[in-house]
Amino acid sequence: MQRINFQNYTGKFTLKDPEKNSYLYFPIANEIGVMSSLTPTLNGDCKMNQNTFLLAPVSSEDLHNNKSSRNFWIYVEGKTAWSVTGVSSQQQSKVFSKEKEETEIECSIMCHKVIRTSKEMGLKSEIINFVPNGYKVELMKVTITNISEEDINITPTAAIPLYCRSADNIRDHRHVTSLLHRIETINSGVIVKPTLTFDERGHKINEIVYGVIAVDEDKSMPISFSPIVEEFIGEGGSFENPESIMLNKEFNVKSGEKFEGYESIGALRFKNEKMKPNESKSYIIAFGYGESVDDFEKLTSTLLKETDFEELLKDTKLYWENKINLKYSTGDSTFNNWMHWVNFQPILRRIYGCSFLPHHDYGKGGRGWRDLWQDCLALLAMDPKEVREMLLNNFAGVRFDGSNATIIGANLGEFIADRNNITRVWMDHGAWPFLTTNLYINQSGDINFLLEKQSYFKDLQTVRGTDKDNLWSIEQGNKLLTKENNIYLGTILEHILVQHLTAFYDVGENNNMRLRGADWNDALDMAKEKGESVAFTALYSGNLVNICELLKKIKNENKIKHVEMAEEIEVLLFKNNIYDYPQEKINILNTYCKSCNHDIKGRTSEIDIDLLVKDLEEKANWIKNHINSKEWITNSEGYSWYNGYYDNSGKKVEGDFESGTRMMLTGQVFTIMSNIATEKQVKEIVKAADSYLYDKEVGGYRLNTNFKELKTDLGRMFGFAYGSKENGAVFSHMTIMYANALYQRGFVKEGFKVIDALYKHCINFEVSKIYPGIPEYISSKGRGMYHYLTGSASWLILTVLTEMFGVKGSYGDMKLDPKLLLSQFDEDNKASISLVFSDRKFKVEYINELHKDFGEYKIQEIFINNETYEFDNLNTIDKNI
Ligand code: G1P
Repeated sequence: MQRINFQNYTGKFTLKDPEKNSYLYFPIANEIGVMSSLTPTLNGDCKMNQNTFLLAPVSSEDLHNNKSSRNFWIYVEGKTAWSVTGVSSQQQSKVFSKEKEETEIECSIMCHKVIRTSKEMGLKSEIINFVPNGYKVELMKVTITNISEEDINITPTAAIPLYCRSADNIRDHRHVTSLLHRIETINSGVIVKPTLTFDERGHKINEIVYGVIAVDEDKSMPISFSPIVEEFIGEGGSFENPESIMLNKEFNVKSGEKFEGYESIGALRFKNEKMKPNESKSYIIAFGYGESVDDFEKLTSTLLKETDFEELLKDTKLYWENKINLKYSTGDSTFNNWMHWVNFQPILRRIYGCSFLPHHDYGKGGRGWRDLWQDCLALLAMDPKEVREMLLNNFAGVRFDGSNATIIGANLGEFIADRNNITRVWMDHGAWPFLTTNLYINQSGDINFLLEKQSYFKDLQTVRGTDKDNLWSIEQGNKLLTKENNIYLGTILEHILVQHLTAFYDVGENNNMRLRGADWNDALDMAKEKGESVAFTALYSGNLVNICELLKKIKNENKIKHVEMAEEIEVLLFKNNIYDYPQEKINILNTYCKSCNHDIKGRTSEIDIDLLVKDLEEKANWIKNHINSKEWITNSEGYSWYNGYYDNSGKKVEGDFESGTRMMLTGQVFTIMSNIATEKQVKEIVKAADSYLYDKEVGGYRLNTNFKELKTDLGRMFGFAYGSKENGAVFSHMTIMYANALYQRGFVKEGFKVIDALYKHCINFEVSKIYPGIPEYISSKGRGMYHYLTGSASWLILTVLTEMFGVKGSYGDMKLDPKLLLSQFDEDNKASISLVFSDRKFKVEYINELHKDFGEYKIQEIFINNETYEFDNLNTIDKNI
């Protein structure tokens, strides 16, 4: 049985026979753009962006299919050639036999080590790969040890295939783009500088130089090269069975030679060595990106030194460790270690976006609007310092009609105009910024952030993606202007209100907010006309209540009675007599959208805070009552829950159907989170979810039951096989939000069950087949899919920190409200969390001397630096302490 063995408290783990899994991958990257993925046999890729791949791009199926992996060969005199990565036809043919070589992987954050022992060859190899900070390269150190009792004569050869072009050319113009290659050998390796690039940008002069360089431990350079693939593999050969290696042919290319127009490989031959028993030899290889051949010459003298390798490795490990400033200690050390990896995942998503690990074979980099805000959640928990600026800048993506820019630029606050004729509007987008902002304000106490000013995004799209502003031109720029052509700046509060008020009026015939292009569930994308999302109507309603709390706070803190708002917005306020009439709502929304179609007046009015609060509360209440009276369903088996959606025929989606019971998790999550469900209803929902959605075999709560229908009037998700991705898999993001909602409502055992089922599944390598961490979803066979780059990591961190450990911000004060179960305390009755809060490092340790469970215990004493602290009945620690 294969299992993950943790070696310390910071996630370092080992795993035996890792290559007996065909879809495993591991990320190594740095902050200046080098992104690699690695399988246990060093397959995977290495790139800087969509157009700059050094190793050929791989999707998940290529992980077992592709032969162009990082390789290093040892030809053993009198025997044959041995691949230290295990990628030779001979070694692969033994993977299922008793002669399989012993292998073990040892990983820590951003560092990958694989050890392989071949009794037959009398050799052991250890290969370390990482991406050093500040250098545009991946580094790889191969150490070979003679484990036999005889002397062994070896011929070592590094072999790194060089793709050197855009991912677009993996099939399209693959051959023609190889004709662009200009190949050159230097003392330490092989350099490729394509003349041009052929990709979506057109035909352009190429500026990037790719290369592989290497030295041995004595700093000796390679003695010869074989830089052209067809010569290296030989006719009839392949990367797994290359003729030049198998027959130990001499490489006849020396340093200083040039070639044009071939597929290339960094095949670097080192001098023969005689290895005595127990003797080791190492080789350091760097492959990456530069601006000139000179860059690689320089790297050879600066980077390729044994001592530097070790230093860089140490620095890199430390650098990433320091980024993770949340640490947990509970009775379950495996959970603590697993969470260490989860903590790191938001950083990985910031680096890789949603496009650059093998399962993430879509998009060309970058993140979406939703991701932008959710990733901030984790940053708030881990590195709050930079978040204020980030939040402020992100609000510049909001349009005045409440929709937002969806093409997000590379720089902070950069949003790109959407010049499509038909644009897609996700109806949930308006709700996320407030959740993140509210968390920020509570963590920091920075309530005046709401009064900061920011511009609005402007492009062709108007009326929430349904119309165009033909007066707008790209020259006008991407900021909303006033009639006097000044950039209009509104408060952050105004931006948030615009998002919520417009959503409130944007309803379908059943008076819930329209689904439009989709909501959180990207695959509910075929009910544009009549679809409605009750689920997110609930979330907007919960937000309205919380906005009111902030407004009251602003009023008290700043001793102000009014807030300033663009005059146009007034039409969306104080209309409580029409809420029952969808058409009236739509008319109001249209009047508003027309008033800001091209520009706005630029005049503001002062709105009385008390009246505004009253109006927003009325709106929230109206939604609550509406959902409770219209969407609470009870089926023939006596279970009750909320209907979360309407399809494109305007019909309820959940309940009893001929094909069976239809239930979805999303509608439950947000009605619970927004206090729309009463305590009694939460209990009912839990019962229904346990009956229809819970499946221990796949990690817990599924996203939906099997509709057994290709529901083309709701979304493409029904085209996915049931149990995969958005169609009924355990989809971590929503599952964790379900846990969060339950914890928020005090349903602690129930919330714990959700997280525990998923965690236990993930860490059970035999079924999940992933390295530690939380994947996007669990497949119907139990495999963790789309590992690492998932928004669920942010939500899990947030839930563990603010709910499970109950360390919450309350306008800058720290509030302690632990929801730990007795079973989570360690043998000394303690559980702790280390974190940064208000720029200070804290270790919050709960001591449960009397072995009480949640519900039985309450905080009796608080000690800060061993001194007793007097606290109020809300367990709040004053921010000024
Ligand atoms: C992904 C997307 C997320 C979307 C979700 C459901 O989830 O990134 O924006 O809401 O699918 O369609 P993730 O991979 O972040 O877990």
